[in-house]
Amino acid sequence: MFLNPEKPAVILAPMEGITDAPFREFITRTGYYDYCVSEFVRVSATVLSDKVLRRHIPELLHESKTRSGTPVQIQLLGGDPDRLAESAMNAIEAGAMGIDLNFGCPAPTVNRHDGGATLLQYPDRLEKIIRAVRDRVPTHLPVSAKMRLGFADPEAIYENAKRAEQAGASWITIHGRTKVQGYIPPAYWKPIGKVRESLSIPVVANGEIWTIEDFRKCREETGSIHFMIGRAALARPTLAKQMRKELGLPLCLPESQAYSFTEGLDPQTWSGIFENYAEVQPSEKRIKQWVRYLAHQRPVAWWEPIKGLGSTPEILNCLREFQESP
Ligand SMILES: Cc1cc2nc3c(=O)[nH]c(=O)nc-3n(C[C@H](O)[C@H](O)[C@H](O)COP(=O)(O)O)c2cc1C
Repeated sequence: MFLNPEKPAVILAPMEGITDAPFREFITRTGYYDYCVSEFVRVSATVLSDKVLRRHIPELLHESKTRSGTPVQIQLLGGDPDRLAESAMNAIEAGAMGIDLNFGCPAPTVNRHDGGATLLQYPDRLEKIIRAVRDRVPTHLPVSAKMRLGFADPEAIYENAKRAEQAGASWITIHGRTKVQGYIPPAYWKPIGKVRESLSIPVVANGEIWTIEDFRKCREETGSIHFMIGRAALARPTLAKQMRKELGLPLCLPESQAYSFTEGLDPQTWSGIFENYAEVQPSEKRIKQWVRYLAHQRPVAWWEPIKGLGSTPEILNCLREFQESP
C-alpha cells in the first residue's frame, strides 16, 4: 500500500505547519505522490486516543487515504517506547494503514522533551522504540523510521540505520543532514547511498531536491528508487511530475481526474481546488504560509493582494477576481 521495495516512488514529506489535511487533500489531487506522511503527532505524557488521532488526521475516517485515494501514513514522535506503541495501536484501530516514527525533528522544544533528532544520539533507545512499535503493529502494516544523518555526528547514521533494520523497520527515510546542520544547504546524499547498500530494507532519499537536476544527482549518488520531496512540493509544484516521468511512473490518478499544476500554481487552480473541497477549507494562516513557500523561488503576483486578508473566503474571492483580471 505504501512502499513497494521493487517499485520507484515519489513521496510527499511530512511538514508540520504546512502539510495538514487540506494541503494533503489538494496536493494529492495532482496524482504526483505515491503516498504522504502526516505532520508529526507528538506522544508525550499520555497515550494518544483514537479521537485525538482522528482530529489530527481526518483521513483515518476514510481508510487512511485522501479523497483522491492517496495513502496517508501516520507519523508519531516521542521517546517512550510503550506509550508510542500504545498510541500506534490506537492509530491502527482508528484506521491507520502504517506508522512512521520521527527521529529527525530538530526543534529545541521537541528535543528537550525527548523526541525527534535527539534520539539519534542513543541507538539503543532508537532500536527499542522501533521494536516496541513493530511488535504491536500487525505485521502486514508497515512501521518505518525517518531520520537525519545524526544529531551532531553524520557518521551516526550507519549505526542508527542498522539498528532500525534490526528492530524490524519496513524501510527508512533519510534526510541527508544532521540536526546541527539544520536546513543549511547542501544535503549530503552520498551517505544515504552507502546506507542503502548496507541494508536489505528500502531507503528513501530526502533533502534539498529542488530541481530535476538535483533529483538526477541525488538518484546517482544514492542509487535509490524512492524519493521524498518536502519544500519543493510548494516551491516547484511540477517537480514531482517530472520526477515520475524520469522514474517511468504514471500519475497515481487517471490523467482526466488529475489537476495539472502550472509551474507557478496559478490562482485559478487554488480557488478551484478549495471550492471543490469546501469541507476541508484551510485556515487563512496556512494559505499564507503555503504562498510563502511557493514564493521561495519566484515572485507570486497574487501574494500582495491576499497578504492583508483575514479569512479563507476573502482569499478565495480575491483569487477569483485575480482570475478575471489577469
Ligand atoms: C516547516 C517544516 C516542517 C517539517 N515537519 C516535519 C515533520 O513533522 N516530520 C518530519 O519527519 N519532518 C519534518 N520536516 C522535515 C521534512 O520532512 C524534510 O525532511 C526536510 O524538509 C528536507 O526535505 P526538503 O529539502 O525536500 O524540504 C519539516 C520540514 C519543514 C521545512
